[in-house]
Amino acid sequence: MWLKHKMFVSLLCLAVLCPSVYDAASVVEWCYHKPTCDYTTWPKIASQYCNGSKQSPINIVTSDVKANPNLTSFIFTGFDDNSTFLSIGNVGDSVVVNLDSDVMKIKGGDLPGTYTTAQFHLHWGNGTSVNGSEHTVDGKQYPLELHIVNVHSKYNGSVKAAVTANDPSGLAVLGFFIEGTNVASGSKSWEILTSFLSNITNSGDTTVDIMNKITMDSLLEGVNRSKYYRYEGSLTTPNCNEIVIWTVFKDTIKVNYELIRLFSTTVNFKNTSPNIFITKNFRGVQGMNGRIVTSQVTSTAPSSGIASTFCILMKLFTFLLTMFD
Ligand SMILES: *[C@@H]1O[C@H](CO)[C@@H](O)[C@H](O)[C@H]1NC(C)=O
Ligand SMILES: *[C@@H]1O[C@H](CO)[C@@H](O)[C@H](O)[C@H]1NC(C)=O
Ligand SMILES: *[C@@H]1O[C@H](CO)[C@@H](O)[C@H](O)[C@H]1NC(C)=O
Ligand SMILES: *[C@@H]1O[C@H](CO)[C@@H](O)[C@H](O)[C@H]1NC(C)=O
Ligand SMILES: *[C@@H]1O[C@H](CO)[C@@H](O)[C@H](O)[C@H]1NC(C)=O
Ligand SMILES: *[C@@H]1O[C@H](CO)[C@@H](O)[C@H](O)[C@H]1NC(C)=O
Ligand SMILES: *[C@@H]1O[C@H](CO)[C@@H](O)[C@H](O)[C@H]1NC(C)=O
Ligand SMILES: *[C@@H]1O[C@H](CO)[C@@H](O)[C@H](O)[C@H]1NC(C)=O
Ligand SMILES: [Zn+2]
Repeated sequence: MWLKHKMFVSLLCLAVLCPSVYDAASVVEWCYHKPTCDYTTWPKIASQYCNGSKQSPINIVTSDVKANPNLTSFIFTGFDDNSTFLSIGNVGDSVVVNLDSDVMKIKGGDLPGTYTTAQFHLHWGNGTSVNGSEHTVDGKQYPLELHIVNVHSKYNGSVKAAVTANDPSGLAVLGFFIEGTNVASGSKSWEILTSFLSNITNSGDTTVDIMNKITMDSLLEGVNRSKYYRYEGSLTTPNCNEIVIWTVFKDTIKVNYELIRLFSTTVNFKNTSPNIFITKNFRGVQGMNGRIVTSQVTSTAPSSGIASTFCILMKLFTFLLTMFD
């Protein structure tokens, strides 16, 4: 009964109640694939926030990253629980998995409080030849980017409430880069996740029978979640509200090339006839406007040539000392 209720609420949520990060109905008609409404037009067609000065995504310039000792580890709750995946839906411009925000939450990592985990979705390019991450690092774009959307606990799991409040720390989004690999093993959870795509080929489709199969942790395998970038930014879709504390992890998730290809060959954009596969559903990088990206003290910008030469010499020196000890 409880389960049924949860599923019903989550379906209702996807359909009408919660204008999520992705609900275009409550905002202007924007898109990714037409020159009249693609992201270059958003500052004009959704000028209230998309024209702001703290927009996302950004290009992270590693040599400009500042050390921040406050960026401690996160505490993840429910990320190891396979009952938290409530439904998966095609929302017309991405694929969204609704998560059980009664079970999943994050804190730590210098976030101002506890955040409940509402959903995750993805941004991608076209197959394995066109990259589609939103954030870039030193100009490098990755094949895909996964966003886990967390909402401050004071909003009771309602992303809409945080958006309505226009609270600068209302959301904490965790961004993960995904790269291709030929290795099949280790991608079992990604295999299961992508197998649901054929059930949601059309905009508005959702399917709920995805429980007890995958955990959030299993999709994030290979990422050391103590190493990340932090900056203040926005939603990457209209209305682009500047309400997001962004965390972008340095390590990448490795997913088999064949599975990556499924995203751009299975699910269709909304309002297209004949249907057009969702491809290149990412926003281009935005200006920094004086913002600073910070990261852990021990892993800031890569050492310069001189510094690394110095390091090598020091290591050699220490090694020689032990030899003659
Ligand atoms: C965006 O804002 C800037 C200044 O804040 C202004 O000069 C510009 O006209 C605005 N552009 C649009 C499309 O609203
Ligand atoms: C770290 O936290 C302290 C206490 O909240 C604050 O004063 C300081 O500015 C923070 N440092 C950085 C780099 O954000
Ligand atoms: C995506 O790639 C396929 C071939 O791999 C091509 O047919 C299609 O036109 C591309 N779509 C876009 C939007 O570039
Ligand atoms: C696209 O992603 C691949 C794999 O991570 C990378 O090797 C390549 O440099 C990227 N291309 C661009 C233009 O960033
Ligand atoms: C969240 O729930 C608490 C207690 O149930 C309530 O007092 C508060 O108004 C709710 N806040 C929102 C934003 O819904
Ligand atoms: C997905 O569709 C397949 C048939 O195409 C069906 O066998 C399967 O039960 C569906 N899965 C879900 C989760 O709806
Ligand atoms: C889901 O988790 C439960 C409880 O930890 C476990 O008994 C079950 O085997 C898990 N299911 C799968 C498919 O991993
Ligand atoms: C993760 O990164 C931290 C910080 O660099 C490091 O101390 C820790 O050993 C790493 N954990 C693993 C499992 O590699
Ligand atoms: Zn996103």
